[in-house]
Amino acid sequence: MQIKKVVIPVAGWGTRSLPASKSVPKAMLSVYDRPVIHYIAAEAVQAGIDQAVFITSRGKSAIEDYFDYDPELEALLEKKGKTEMLAKVREASTMFTSVTSVRQREQLGLGHAVFCARRAVNCEPFAVMLGDDIMDGGENGKSGLPQLVEAASRYKKSVIGVMEVPEDHVNRYGIVEGEEIAPGEYRVTKLVEKPAVGTVKSRLAIVGRYVLMPGIFHCLEHTKAGSGGEIQLTDALSELNEREGMIAVKMQGLRFDTGNPDDWMLANLFFSLRESPQREKLLEQMRKLVRSKSLNLSC
Ligand code: G1P
Repeated sequence: MQIKKVVIPVAGWGTRSLPASKSVPKAMLSVYDRPVIHYIAAEAVQAGIDQAVFITSRGKSAIEDYFDYDPELEALLEKKGKTEMLAKVREASTMFTSVTSVRQREQLGLGHAVFCARRAVNCEPFAVMLGDDIMDGGENGKSGLPQLVEAASRYKKSVIGVMEVPEDHVNRYGIVEGEEIAPGEYRVTKLVEKPAVGTVKSRLAIVGRYVLMPGIFHCLEHTKAGSGGEIQLTDALSELNEREGMIAVKMQGLRFDTGNPDDWMLANLFFSLRESPQREKLLEQMRKLVRSKSLNLSC
């Protein structure tokens, strides 16, 4: 099964990232030397995807611009002989063969955002990636979406990515109950959006990566507002599961929820320590900072 398109909803207000996201889309906030959306796009490309559909709203054009060519900037970098930087700048504009934007005129929820992509996606299986979560394969090098695309090809069903969360965090996520049919792979039996703590048996939380069959659009057509008064993708998934079945796959590696300022900071530490050409020096400076009297930390 080939998955060529990814739907990336980026229309939200980004309230958790305010005030940083007041006049900059939160997907454009920088983690080390590139915006959050770059990491997400790179993961999609790794999974074999070559077409992106952004679900946007007013004020989000910086995201489309980021994936477009910028001939003036490129000419300037070329003239100055900054070839490494030129390659980095060009990378974003060559990641996808096509980038489409669909306006979500009203913010009615994640389910509604995905429904807005129905014409752009048409009748083929597709991926959905939420713009907050950066995944990294960590030690075994296998990151988010490629894992799901591989499972979707094997099972020929919709596949959603999950991770275990602490029991008192289940009310922050869509929670999946299922029967384990292979290590880390579950036949889904139940999906609930943001259940109250203590009301579900499972701690498997949906983490913003999905491979979906086009039947989801038939479900979304009549999904009513649910948790938080919003049209929830999880409610439509629940119906799709009843109709066609669905698999949940425990995702490997690290996840940074960059919509949360502390997690965003950790993502910056992680990627700078991994990618900076000066990483030893950087680490030494971080150590000094932690010991500095003005922070007054007990460690
Ligand atoms: C959304 C989904 C939820 C999922 C979460 C992952 O919720 O509705 O099922 O667990 O993303 O980040 P949100 O965080 O947008 O409220």
